[in-house]
Amino acid sequence: MATNRTFTMIKPDAVEKNYIGGILDKINAAGFRIVAMKYTKLSKEEAGEFYAVHSERPFYGELVDYMSNGPIVAAILEKENAVADFRTLIGATNPAEAAEGTIRKLYAESISANAVHGSDSDENAAIEGNFFFSSLERF
Ligand code: TYD
Repeated sequence: MATNRTFTMIKPDAVEKNYIGGILDKINAAGFRIVAMKYTKLSKEEAGEFYAVHSERPFYGELVDYMSNGPIVAAILEKENAVADFRTLIGATNPAEAAEGTIRKLYAESISANAVHGSDSDENAAIEGNFFFSSLERF
């Protein structure tokens, strides 16, 4: 069954370039409702924990450094078929391969600094949302 929630982060490169407003506009225009949102900064330890699933990948160290390098915006989004539809909205991991009109095509600079995160499964959407938000912080 398709869930109706996913989790996203606007990553440090996009925050640094003042793309928060543009990205949130795209998210709202695509029909997602913001259920929870915060502006925050991950420590190295927190970024390492969030991306622990990638700990054996060659880019892990760089990814953790990058994601703890500046503030991010974390959010839980609601829409029918949220996980799959949000992956379509953000586009391919590598912005050079992302479809026209996707958030990564519009706002990402490289495969590592790729503007946004989007959960890849219902299970991970729940885990990632719980990583950032308590039950009192989601509506
Ligand atoms: P991944 O889960 O494969 O991509 P996605 O974010 O599209 O689900 O990878 C997680 C993040 O790791 C990705 O957003 C950016 C970073 N990354 C790199 O820095 N280099 C790489 O070669 C890959 C595959 C990912």
